[in-house]
Amino acid sequence: MAVHVRGRRRLAELEAGERVDIKVVVARKHLQPFRDAGKGSYLSLWVTDTSGGMAARLWDGAREAASRLQVDRPVRLLGTVDSFRDSLQLNVERVEPLADADVRPEDFLPIGPRPPLEVEAELEERLGGVTDRWLVSLLAGIFGEGGLRSAFLRAPGGKSIHHSYLGGLADHTLEVVRFALAAGDYYSPLDKDLLCCGALLHDVGKLEEYRWDWTIDYTDRGRLIGHPVLGYEFVAQAIARIEEFPRKLEWRLLHLILSHHGELAWGAPVLPQTLEATVLAHADLLSGRAQQFQQVLQNPRAPGQAWTTYDRVLGRYIYAGEPGDQQSGSR
Ligand SMILES: [Fe+2]
Ligand SMILES: [Fe+2]
Repeated sequence: MAVHVRGRRRLAELEAGERVDIKVVVARKHLQPFRDAGKGSYLSLWVTDTSGGMAARLWDGAREAASRLQVDRPVRLLGTVDSFRDSLQLNVERVEPLADADVRPEDFLPIGPRPPLEVEAELEERLGGVTDRWLVSLLAGIFGEGGLRSAFLRAPGGKSIHHSYLGGLADHTLEVVRFALAAGDYYSPLDKDLLCCGALLHDVGKLEEYRWDWTIDYTDRGRLIGHPVLGYEFVAQAIARIEEFPRKLEWRLLHLILSHHGELAWGAPVLPQTLEATVLAHADLLSGRAQQFQQVLQNPRAPGQAWTTYDRVLGRYIYAGEPGDQQSGSR
């Protein structure tokens, strides 16, 4: 019987048993020895496209294929989809490098759910909501003409944990602004201008922490310094260009950026020590954590699985429920 290969499919749409002919980027590769070392090695890959990532295994000719394939480069991959330990993986029969000229990075990087113009309009609205003249002038220098606005709107919010898609940094940032300002209504004395500005800038260091060419990954400087300190450095330099910027406002704003991870163990160089800082840290955690759950729930699951696979970052399984759970109200 002839096996039918379905039209252009994305990784997240694949189903167990399906034959595939797909264009993906090799995000990671390594040769893994078989349990019986005498049998040599197989090639273990992590491949990505706009919809996410999937493990892929090449059992035959692994050494030769490993030398031909480059990490962070697009390939055409032919094979079948297998179900393995409640996840899907690709059983590769053939894999061929694609010439960069035939494909564009945009064809492989995940993109966000919101139209870019809508996101930019929301950013504009938030910038317009800040009234303190010093913060207005700081934000105008950063997001205005000649600033980093277009990079900010395009950057990912992470490599894999949350908002890890093009436009994810802006989506996450605006979510944090919304959460922080809503929570800020309940507490006083709280400086909403400062909180909004801190929320808008809290992750600006991610522009240097990540690169987003064929795949999303850390830069060397990003991994070594981390975005809270990179963001602190960037905003401190922007403030230094504004004559007579009030010192205490500078400290309070830089404190928001340095402390936004909330706990020393979570990468904050200092703990939140102002009301604005603790509100921002919680808004940031809520946005990141809820999106992380959403991302895990969207990963492909074997048919009929009510639970996701164990998520090592969250340290738990997540219950996805069964079709109709929400509607039935059954006990
Ligand atoms: Fe952060
Ligand atoms: Fe954040």
